[in-house]
Amino acid sequence: MRRLFPVTDQTAPTAPGGNAEGGGETASREWSLDEIADAYAYPEPAPGEPRPYLRANMVSTLDGAAQHEGRSHPISHATDMRIFGTLRALADVVVVGAETVRQEGYRPARVRAEFAARREAAGQTPAPAIAVVTASLDLDFSLPLFTSPTVPTLVLTGAAAAPDRVAAAEKAGARVVTAGDGVGVDPARAVRALAGLGHTRLLTEGGPRLLGQLVVAEVLDELCLTVSPMLTAGAAQRIAGGPAVPVPHRFALVSLLEEEGFLFSRYRRA
Ligand SMILES: NC(=O)c1ccc[n+]([C@@H]2O[C@H](COP(=O)([O-])OP(=O)(O)OC[C@H]3O[C@@H](n4cnc5c(N)ncnc54)[C@H](OP(=O)(O)O)[C@@H]3O)[C@@H](O)[C@H]2O)c1
Repeated sequence: MRRLFPVTDQTAPTAPGGNAEGGGETASREWSLDEIADAYAYPEPAPGEPRPYLRANMVSTLDGAAQHEGRSHPISHATDMRIFGTLRALADVVVVGAETVRQEGYRPARVRAEFAARREAAGQTPAPAIAVVTASLDLDFSLPLFTSPTVPTLVLTGAAAAPDRVAAAEKAGARVVTAGDGVGVDPARAVRALAGLGHTRLLTEGGPRLLGQLVVAEVLDELCLTVSPMLTAGAAQRIAGGPAVPVPHRFALVSLLEEEGFLFSRYRRA
């Protein structure tokens, strides 16, 4: 992987024949997990004013598809998965829509020795909690995601959620958090509720229906978008769906990494 932005010595064009123009290290090389973690560190909160910071990590093809045959893996890349894992390792909690949990077969976040010291120094649990956003609670509570996570899985739902499903979630070991007055979740309230539990470094992995609501609620601080050099056509979802915002939200480019034509962008709300 190499850095395209901000411009560094890794950015210089490679001359024909493969030698870097003007010296410097321009060849793509595998970054260590520590280097990736440093590149994606959460911003330090202002002293005395810890506030939640919500980052999304998504992958899209050139023609805007957020999945192929119902999954994001076919449009991903090994380095995308390294960044995906590192972003998880930096987060207190991973917020995800129930459909992504069902379709992608979500499992608990792994404890990874490579990030143990970093997480301990940041006052974090050994692995991030997974927080599933759901109105129906139509989830298989016998799965390891609920029965054997390192940190109890959270279920974010509304106050009017079916009591028998809430009971099933709690019986399996999940922590049910109410973040809406009806059956559904109010996205801004969900972010506040997670912050109230001490989770201020938030990561969402979508899916598109959830991400669209987080955008509309104006609680998304950052988007880490992998642009996959593929075309799929078809009727796949975009990375964010649902009703549009009245005025497009402007984001600023923070960094841009590249490997094998995949672009790993990081944008912050301007
Ligand atoms: N390209 C990428 O980076 C990426 C990332 C993630 C997922 N994906 C793909 O996206 C697809 C799934 O995404 P999706 O957009 O269909 O679904 P999603 O956003 O993952 O989940 C939608 C579900 O989340 C729950 N939900 C969403 N908003 C809610 C609210 N305000 N209150 C309560 N519950 C709420 C509902 O669950 P209930 O039905 O349980 O009520 C809803 O059916 C999969 O194909 C997956 O592979 C791609």
